[in-house]
Amino acid sequence: MSKLWGGRFTKETNKLVEEFTASIEFDQQLANEDIEGSLAHVQMLGECNIIPQEDAEMIKEGLLRIQKKIASGEVQFSVEHEDIHMNIEKLLIEEVGPVGGKLHTGRSRNDQVATDMHLYLRTKTEKIIQYVNDVQEALLLQAKEHVETILPGYTHLQRAQPVSFAHHLLAYFWMFQRDKERLQDSLTRINVLPLGAGALAGTTFPIDRERVAEILGFDGIYPNSMDAVSDRDFILEFLSSASIVMTHISRLSEELVIWSSQEFQFVELDDSFCTGSSIMPQKKNPDVPELLRAKTGRVYGDLFGLLTVLKGLPLAYNKDMQEDKEGMFDTVKTLEGSLTLLAPMIETMTVKKENMYQAVKEDFSNATDIADYLVTKGLPFREAHEVIGKIVLYAIQQEKYLVNLTLDEYKQFHSYFEEDIYETLDPRQVVAARKSTGGTSQDQVRQQIALAEEKIK
Ligand code: ARG
Repeated sequence: MSKLWGGRFTKETNKLVEEFTASIEFDQQLANEDIEGSLAHVQMLGECNIIPQEDAEMIKEGLLRIQKKIASGEVQFSVEHEDIHMNIEKLLIEEVGPVGGKLHTGRSRNDQVATDMHLYLRTKTEKIIQYVNDVQEALLLQAKEHVETILPGYTHLQRAQPVSFAHHLLAYFWMFQRDKERLQDSLTRINVLPLGAGALAGTTFPIDRERVAEILGFDGIYPNSMDAVSDRDFILEFLSSASIVMTHISRLSEELVIWSSQEFQFVELDDSFCTGSSIMPQKKNPDVPELLRAKTGRVYGDLFGLLTVLKGLPLAYNKDMQEDKEGMFDTVKTLEGSLTLLAPMIETMTVKKENMYQAVKEDFSNATDIADYLVTKGLPFREAHEVIGKIVLYAIQQEKYLVNLTLDEYKQFHSYFEEDIYETLDPRQVVAARKSTGGTSQDQVRQQIALAEEKIK
């Protein structure tokens, strides 16, 4: 079968070159978008009398029949026709005859492929926003159950100050909220139409780009034809937003791995989300969060791959740009898979609140509170810090926690100590006292939950 661009050539393409330059193996994923774009283009061609109305109709019907055939798996794509665009055009000409050759009037594969990618990422971005929202719902569900559950809060992975478990989970809720907002915002740049830019310079035909944008539901058109065909910023932006989503997933996954270890035992992941060992019968491994953590790497790789492809490319279209697709597909697949697993895994995990509470009882994470206690009695904070540091050292040497020291012992360090110091030391009180806006007190956390509920409505 001859090439659509064969006229100028005197020799057959080398078979290896044909395989090396073809993208059909992966860009067939864009078949629906390609047909959608063509349907809009041909409708406009007819409306603007660039081709006869009846030809436009025949082409449209032919495209719809091809779409059905592709969906039912009847179609065999061929490497000989390089990519999805020429495969479909070839199929169209077979389907409706030479009139099919009018579809490509006033268009190039350069503006066509860019349009396909915009359509594809619009659908996928909207879907991914929904999946992020599902993860937020799962976090919120657990948060509501655990406002009163207290665990050590960490800095440097050293116990710092006790916090409500809901507060800890909600920190992730807000990360995912920013992810959603970032993706939502990127839609304003995704939802712009490149079609009508031609190969790079526009076209001699009296096309109506605004009409095509309207049919395809785009908010606007690219004002510069050269930018339209060579812009891949919207994909870079998607990949970087995706990388940030994966960073959040990875951090949360790391905590789940730590929390479900024998050493912590703060949560237990549901059996249906874990796997066993082929040799050690006792094992229950957190494979899912481990893989989520690892898959972050490939998404970063996809971002860096495309950044590297694009750097130094002269205007306008270059074949290099064909390399924008596999990484994008890979990131979409990774993100969809990761988010849809994360939500039910969070929802079904068991939170071991007794173990969490036991941990806060056996640490010095209330030390800041006795420093604050002295401050409320009039001591400058820096001095109070020094006094409590000495008390902590003393307690460690005595193998005691702060609650186990007697009032006499406290008084040896400072005369301001009274009986009420013991109320201050209670972990529940330590949490409740952090009432500042956005703090971990149970009241603040309840307000935060109300705010979070607003965001996912
Ligand atoms: N398969 C190509 C790509 O994905 C389509 C555009 C080809 N344009 C060209 N002038 N060779 O980039």
